[in-house]
Amino acid sequence: MILVTGGAGFIGANFVLDWLGQSDEPVVNLDKLTYAGNPHNFASLAGDARHVFVQGDIGDAALVEGLLARHAPRAIVNFAAESHVDRSIHGPEDFIQTNVVGTFRLLEAARHYWSALPATQKEAFRFLHVSTDEVYGTLSPTDPAFTEETTVEPNSPYSASKAASDHLVRAWHHTYGLPVLTTNCSNNYGPLHFPEKLIPLVIINALAGKDLPIYGDGLQVRDWLYVKDHCSAIRRVLQAGRPGETYNIGGHNEKTNIGIVKTICALLDELRPRADGRPYESQITHVKDRPGHDRRYAIDAGKIERELGWRPAETFETGIRKTVQWYLDHPEWAAQVQSGAYREWVAKHYAG
Ligand code: NAD
Ligand code: TYD
Repeated sequence: MILVTGGAGFIGANFVLDWLGQSDEPVVNLDKLTYAGNPHNFASLAGDARHVFVQGDIGDAALVEGLLARHAPRAIVNFAAESHVDRSIHGPEDFIQTNVVGTFRLLEAARHYWSALPATQKEAFRFLHVSTDEVYGTLSPTDPAFTEETTVEPNSPYSASKAASDHLVRAWHHTYGLPVLTTNCSNNYGPLHFPEKLIPLVIINALAGKDLPIYGDGLQVRDWLYVKDHCSAIRRVLQAGRPGETYNIGGHNEKTNIGIVKTICALLDELRPRADGRPYESQITHVKDRPGHDRRYAIDAGKIERELGWRPAETFETGIRKTVQWYLDHPEWAAQVQSGAYREWVAKHYAG
């Protein structure tokens, strides 16, 4: 079996669902259930003996050591993190606790467990750390895309905490020999995405007749990858990645934020036109820019393509259509995640 952390969040839940959709290898899913963790994300696995959910913190050494001893996983896939840049600006403390201290504790528990394994299991064990392209910092419009050799220059508390965790993972390989793999992926989108992030926020606000807030001029560029393609890349790296290596994962989809929002508006105009016949674009508003806002991210995914033969299955056009359709088909999910805590965040962050 494998131990997945953060499997109640956006990417982790998609990963667990896809994993059990294609394999009978069980998953132990350790998640603290912060505001971003949602057990409804894996409601379809209720009663499925292949999925064991444990509520807890990756930083709880005794809990993690107990889980490793009891379930003897062949791999750990670490998704657990505080993941939202804007929240890291309002309050960085949780980011340091989970992304840095939590990853450190998880690495230590993994190292103790792995050191005591018999030789063949020790050889086969993997610790896969899921990270972000944001660790590389920002690009100008003409800079080449991030490669695995690009200097790490994080600019937000979130990306700095993720870069710190990547360094710890690297050091646990070089110093202790722990067989680690690190993936640095671009912005994901797709089903189960919590509506504090741009794409689900815009879909949900548009349908509710609310403003679609664009930070600054909206010409910031992100490289978007459909979440199921990220999951397939992680499965491939886990299967064939070389221990100690990092792999950049991206979708070859560089888009401006304003372009993304207009695409979503056009899809909604087609699939769920407004009652008054006006275009959803009329709801776009420009708001104060994010402090320290990175201008452009772009991923060179050549290494994973060449070495492991991975390629994304979706283009942005096919992936965003599926995503918008998923939100239209799951209004109950969207209503459930917009709890009191969510409304408080929106009121605080977008005030004025
Ligand atoms: P998310 O915020 O949706 O989910 C994070 C999950 O981790 C939640 O279920 C939360 O409850 C859990 N968690 C938080 N702190 C924990 C702790 N201390 N112990 C156990 N569980 C804890 O995030 P996501 O978008 O699914 O991102 C998953 C991972 O992928 C993160 O490591 C993130 O840095 C990375 N990543 C995300 C993106 C993206 O676009 N979303 C892109 C590249 C990499
Ligand atoms: P986000 O989804 O928060 O991801 P990240 O900051 O990790 O890239 O934001 C994606 C882009 O969209 C980013 O450039 C910030 C911008 N953005 C807005 O313009 N308005 C919003 O309300 C949000 C949440 C994000």
